Amino acid sequence: MSDVGREDQIIRAWGVYVPEDAATEVGRVLDAVWLNTGSQERLFRETFSGRFNIPYCVATCNGTASLRASLAMLKIGPGDEVISTPMTFLATNTAILEQGATPVFADIRSDDLNIDPASVREMITPKTKAIICVHYGGNPCDMDELWAIGRERGLPVIEDCAHALGSAYKDQDVGSRGDIACFSFQAVKIITCGDGGMITTTREDYYDKLKKYVWYGVDREGRPPAVDGLPEDIDVLGFKYNMNDITATLALVGLRHVDIPLERRQVIGKRYRNELGDCQKIRIMKYHADRRPNYQLFPVCVDDRPSFSEWMWAQGIQVVVNNRRSDRYSIMGGLRDLPVTERADREVILLPIHCQLSDDDQARVIEAVLEYDRT
Ligand SMILES: Cc1ncc(COP(=O)(O)O)c(C=O)c1O
Repeated sequence: MSDVGREDQIIRAWGVYVPEDAATEVGRVLDAVWLNTGSQERLFRETFSGRFNIPYCVATCNGTASLRASLAMLKIGPGDEVISTPMTFLATNTAILEQGATPVFADIRSDDLNIDPASVREMITPKTKAIICVHYGGNPCDMDELWAIGRERGLPVIEDCAHALGSAYKDQDVGSRGDIACFSFQAVKIITCGDGGMITTTREDYYDKLKKYVWYGVDREGRPPAVDGLPEDIDVLGFKYNMNDITATLALVGLRHVDIPLERRQVIGKRYRNELGDCQKIRIMKYHADRRPNYQLFPVCVDDRPSFSEWMWAQGIQVVVNNRRSDRYSIMGGLRDLPVTERADREVILLPIHCQLSDDDQARVIEAVLEYDRT
């Protein structure tokens, strides 16, 4: 393969999708009297709920806040253990630490990098208070298995859906069936408003409490329109995690156009699967027949990751190691004995996938991967 003329044609690992009408819509809100949490935030929640068939939605300022507020609502704190995956972005597990609880890491599955339900079972102790799973790269976890464990042991299952907006498990949108799910609208996500998040739940009692945890322990919707709009008493210590009307407007515009990034990612993801499925040195993930991934990420495993990344970058193609195993960081309490995680931490790397990746760009990525595989 020749490098001639390609120096200025870097294919980026990440892209940001902001619909064209976003600036106009935000401009309208900036002209309004109310910028704080208000009608736009409410409309965003209602639209999100309708689009993804979710009974109850609480909007937040980011995905990490969504996770922490959920743990706080479940009264998880010092002395408690939360079983989680080490194969994720830091935020999943720093949220547990922020609550003063201990993350207990289960191992992952080698074929999709999601938490392994068999390992979750082994990690349960009397101190376990919840299970967190991450639909890694938007490829849904074995939810039936995880929910079964939750039911048997009386443990809530929190789905970290930061990667998984628009993914489906057994024909149902992720976040529409379980106890609690947490979404992120950070810059490179399917919908972005710069930073934002959503907590979804199917339980009215959780919803009533979660509303309070995202705004100082007060249910803003239930506030009386009075001179003193605060309630007589505040009985839980909440955070300032609400979403304001500016970011809600951006998120709402993104949501109205959400089929554009979702459909583009389907095309790119399926093409990678078709064209790279027979590689020997590069292994793609398993995509289960009963689930729809959203292809937020396209992770592959490579035995010799340094040589692969060097090769791809030399072709002007950014491949990146997005996440390292959480337990490698001392704040998480030190390395655990997790053989599958250990290998994934050495081998997983992401191919470019985003809305700005053209068909020609993708052809270049595929050509470079196939050439690496042949040599
Ligand atoms: C798996 C996972 N969980 C949580 C988060 C945190 O989301 P936010 O950046 O919106 O706080 C991220 C962010 O990328 C993530 O990838």
